[in-house]
Amino acid sequence: MDILLSDGRRIPIEMHKVRVVQKTRLAPVDERLRAIEEGGYNTFLLRTRDIFIDMLTDSGTNAMSDNQLASMMVSDDAYAGGESYYKLLSAVKDVLGFDFCVPAHQGRAAEHLLAKIFVKPGSVVPMNYHFTTTKAHFEMAGGKVLEIYTDEALNTASSCPFKGNLDLHKFAEVIEKYGADNVAFVRMEATTNLIGGQPFSLANLKEVRKMASEHGIPVIIDCSLISENAYFIKRREAACKDWSIEKIVAEMMKQADLIYLSGRKSTCVRGGLIATNNPKYWEKLKAWLPVYEGFITYGGMSSKEIEAMAVGLREMTDYDVASSSPDLIEFFVNSMTDRGIPAVTPPGGLAGHVDAMKFLPHVPQSQYPAGALAAALYIVSGARGMERGTISMDRDEKGRDVYADMELCRLAVPRRVYSTAHMEYVADRLKWLLEHRDLVGGLEFYEEPPVLRFFTGRLRPLNDWGRKLAAAFKKDFGDAC
Ligand code: F0G
Repeated sequence: MDILLSDGRRIPIEMHKVRVVQKTRLAPVDERLRAIEEGGYNTFLLRTRDIFIDMLTDSGTNAMSDNQLASMMVSDDAYAGGESYYKLLSAVKDVLGFDFCVPAHQGRAAEHLLAKIFVKPGSVVPMNYHFTTTKAHFEMAGGKVLEIYTDEALNTASSCPFKGNLDLHKFAEVIEKYGADNVAFVRMEATTNLIGGQPFSLANLKEVRKMASEHGIPVIIDCSLISENAYFIKRREAACKDWSIEKIVAEMMKQADLIYLSGRKSTCVRGGLIATNNPKYWEKLKAWLPVYEGFITYGGMSSKEIEAMAVGLREMTDYDVASSSPDLIEFFVNSMTDRGIPAVTPPGGLAGHVDAMKFLPHVPQSQYPAGALAAALYIVSGARGMERGTISMDRDEKGRDVYADMELCRLAVPRRVYSTAHMEYVADRLKWLLEHRDLVGGLEFYEEPPVLRFFTGRLRPLNDWGRKLAAAFKKDFGDAC
């Protein structure tokens, strides 16, 4: 929630109190330089002990509520027929309105099952934007991912409230070109992760539903950040301004034939889920689940996490919970733009994002500016972000880089973990970096896995710029910072 101060400012305010903490440490810049060198300039390969503020992801890193933790103590570990599953089923019915629910060990496991069931060689899967694991699974099943976002989606300095909308004209063209029978389903990602956590509107979702229904195409929503998307609908879509988050979520769910999610985000646990009212989909899912995940009443998740997911699903529609991360992200994005940093606007869900092509205009895409910016920010701040650009795209069949639509340095804001002071600190260090950006150069791979290379690939800085950057930082801030 944000609150009005007497001087007219609005600030995000925590609607919870912190009762358990994890100590962090700001390693001195020389240690940070060593850590990033050892990690091949890939922030995934850093260790917690070397990280001051962990903004790599909001996945599985959110603070859980007291009620979630309490629920874990009464979980039922039965291999089959566990009571925890039935509590999840009842939460899925109450909050999302679905009769069938399949747990999976995380979001990509759900995607794997969906690829198995829906995607055949030659299928196309139109979507408002892909996510890395989504694309990998659907393409490995022989499908082709088609991104049919609106023109505004890739504008990083925008005031468009719904950059996650699907372009309906392009959707009609896809149906015309490929034939409805070849469209496996249309996928709407609730806040498009890779282009800045941007939401879609309820009106757009309803139009998508209408067009899909006319052609017998199933609608699937990736609900990983559903409560945040619903919060943006409340804040930005006039027709819904007086609706509760609960009502908006329920209305969104009515537009879907099936939904899935990574429970690691909005529901603040570690797990995944598929839900539907279609008995045919349920039968197919039930057949594959024990092969890949586990028995239908646990699907690869621990019973503790299933219990906590049931609670998390109910809690995520609480306004104070749904707004907690977007309001802090808005504060963070404003802290950046006030300092002249090219942050993606409007603020989205999951993270503040910096447009690395604007931040480092001298670093060409072939030298991975977003990866360079994430590494440079770590060196000067101890804050760990993530590359969301060309490194996050795998090479094409000829081994060439596939340039991403955007080069973003993503600075995730896990739910109920960090404060406004943390956000201001990171914005301040980014400002210093902007003033010294000429010191930052490009990167090149020296170890590169063939799929999802961003996770474990290793790179080196061209012309050893990391050391020069660390030396300049030390001159301004001393050894200890
Ligand atoms: N869909 C979306 C929209 C996601 O953001 C993610 C994960 C997944 C699916 C896959 O879920 O990780 O549980 O297997 N996003 C994480 C991130 C990894 O850091 O943004 P998962």
